[in-house]
Amino acid sequence: MPLSFKHLTSTKQLTRADTDAILAKAAEMEGTMAKGGSDLLAGKILAALFYEASTRTRLSFEAAMLRLGGQVITADGFQFSSLYKGESIEDTMRMVGQYADIIAMRHPEQGSADRAAAVSLVPFINAGDGPGQHPTQALLDLFTIQKERRTIDGLKIAMVGDLRYGRTVHSLSFLLGLYNNLSFTFVAPKELTMPEKVTSFLAEKKLPFVEIDRLEPALECDVLYMTRIQQERFADHSEYERLKNVYTLTAKHLQGKKATVMHPLPRVGEIATDVDSLPSAAYFRQARNGVPVRMALLALLLGF
Ligand code: NCD
Repeated sequence: MPLSFKHLTSTKQLTRADTDAILAKAAEMEGTMAKGGSDLLAGKILAALFYEASTRTRLSFEAAMLRLGGQVITADGFQFSSLYKGESIEDTMRMVGQYADIIAMRHPEQGSADRAAAVSLVPFINAGDGPGQHPTQALLDLFTIQKERRTIDGLKIAMVGDLRYGRTVHSLSFLLGLYNNLSFTFVAPKELTMPEKVTSFLAEKKLPFVEIDRLEPALECDVLYMTRIQQERFADHSEYERLKNVYTLTAKHLQGKKATVMHPLPRVGEIATDVDSLPSAAYFRQARNGVPVRMALLALLLGF
C-alpha cells in the first residue's frame, strides 16, 4: 500500500497504516541487507544535504541508498553551500530537485523542512530541522522498540534529558500517539521540559504522562530513552555547562530492572560505558536499525 504522504517532514503526518507499511518494509529490508543488498533503486539518485553536523543519519541514509543499488550526491557544511551566499532554501530545493530523484536534508532552523517540502519537485525527507523534528529517527526508534519488546502497545516509556531541544523525543512522542495504552514519564530539569506541543498532543490522545526531574523513579519502565543535552541549541554556554551532567545512567541503576535502554546517539556522558555490555543496552542495535528503516522509506517514497 502506498504511503499517505509524498514528503516526510514531521511524524504528525503519519497514519497507523503508514507506520505499519514502513515497519513491514523495514523488516523485509533487513533480509535484503543480509544478502548484501539489491538493485531495487538502480538508476535513482539521493541528494543528501547536511547543513548541520551528522554522522549516523547521514551515513545510514547513504548506506541505505547504496544497499538498494542507488547513488548519492551530497552537499554538506553550511559554509560551503550556496545558502551561505544568501540563497533561499526554496531556491536550493527547486534546483536540487532537477539533479536528484529524492532529497534528504538536515538544517539548523526549525521549520526549514516544511519550507523545503512546500516547493520540492521530488520526495523530500526531513533529516532533522533544528529543535523541531527528526521523523526518520523516530521511525527507527519505533522499529527498535518493536524488535526489542515484541510490541508497542501497552508499554511504559520514559524519556530522559533534554526534552526541550531534543527533536528525537518530539518526533517519537507524536509517533507513539498512534498506538494504544502507552504511558510516559518525562524526566528533565525544569529548564528542559517537554514542549507544550507534545504534552497537549498526548493529552488530546488521552495517553497519560508524568513530568519529573529525578531519574530514579523513572527506572521502572519498559523503554528508557536517554538523550544528550543539546549543546548547540543553548544561547548561553554557562547554562549548558550547568546542565550538561544532569543525568548519568549507570549499570547499577539497572540492576533488577527490565527496561530496554535506548539513545539516538551521540552520547556525551548520559550513559556510563558499564551499561554497554548489558543485554538491555539497545542503542547500538538501534543505530544499526537506521539502515533498513531508511531503505524502506526511500523505496516506498520512490514508489517501490
Ligand atoms: C540525534 C539528532 O541529530 O537529533 N542524533 C541522531 O540523529 N542520531 C540526537 C542528538 O544529536 O542528540
